[in-house]
Amino acid sequence: MPELDGARVLVTGGSGFIGRRVVAALLAAGAEVVVADLSAHPAAAVRSVVGDLRDPEVRRAAVSDGLDAVIHLAAVTSVLRSVEDPAGTYQVNVEVTAGLLELAREHKVPRFVLASTNAVTGDVGGTPIGEQLPLRPLTPYGATKAAAEMLLSAYSGVYGMQACALRFANVYGPGMRHKDSFVPRLMRAAAGGTGVQVYGDGTQLRDYVHVDDIVQAVLLAWRTGVSGPVVVGSGHSVSVNDLIEAAREVTGAPIPVERVAAKAGEMPAVVLDISHARSLGYGPRYELTDGMATVWPEFAEQTGEAAE
Ligand SMILES: NC(=O)c1ccc[n+]([C@@H]2O[C@H](COP(=O)([O-])OP(=O)(O)OC[C@H]3O[C@@H](n4cnc5c(N)ncnc54)[C@H](O)[C@@H]3O)[C@@H](O)[C@H]2O)c1
Repeated sequence: MPELDGARVLVTGGSGFIGRRVVAALLAAGAEVVVADLSAHPAAAVRSVVGDLRDPEVRRAAVSDGLDAVIHLAAVTSVLRSVEDPAGTYQVNVEVTAGLLELAREHKVPRFVLASTNAVTGDVGGTPIGEQLPLRPLTPYGATKAAAEMLLSAYSGVYGMQACALRFANVYGPGMRHKDSFVPRLMRAAAGGTGVQVYGDGTQLRDYVHVDDIVQAVLLAWRTGVSGPVVVGSGHSVSVNDLIEAAREVTGAPIPVERVAAKAGEMPAVVLDISHARSLGYGPRYELTDGMATVWPEFAEQTGEAAE
């Protein structure tokens, strides 16, 4: 198994929510890290290539000889934004991935890990989502991630690159203050004494996975050299109502709920089959309430700041 100590790794999107945790884990394991992102990474030990990865010059500055892996996290991450701007989402999520894969091939980088999503499979009702289901994405976000996965498959098939697409569930954890997903919305509501809107009756099932479990999966993809898709989640789905209860328990705030009509395309259930990841050695460590407790301090701090 390749060791991370002394390895050279490029992390695109390394200044983002998941990226910062991945970079911290890589540094702790002794890796030398380059981050390519729109904003610089704050750690002095990291070399930052600051710029837009749609620019070929930025990509060329990021990928160099001697890299042991590319961990590609930079993307348009919002489903809503992808619906508003499908063409722009294609550029960032597909063209940038294609450009990075090509540079990785030219520079003989042996490993490439892509942050993908379970949204590539679309709505399968309550059927557990494993790697074997057909790809039927329902949004430009899901479609561009599916397209990126296909490119990885080709580079693995033809050039022997170890190319792995980790299909993340809904990720939560420390470092989400800038995000607009449901967990930070709950935390902002608790901190601000307001409530949240819930689509439908809140019984829709989702898999929420802690960011440190995601980091574990990224390191595992590196260590095992696995190629192809790997579904990564907590392996335990909860309802949106359960999530709200966990947030109330952790924050002590009432977080009132306003129920609004479910949006078209709202999935009734996301149930993940993580047995492939488990067979590689993956074992999620966070249970929902304990995990949510790791998110709250940054938001609680905000309340304190606002009161000063
Ligand atoms: N957070 C989740 O729940 C979740 C779920 C499934 C998949 N993912 C995937 O994981 C990855 C990381 O997500 P995140 O939650 O950390 O998002 P994030 O928005 O916090 O981080 C993304 C980073 O990519 C950078 N970036 C975006 N476009 C760029 C560009 N054109 N050039 C250079 N840098 C650019 C941003 O500056 C940001 O730092 C993404 O690929 C996302 O699609 C996330």
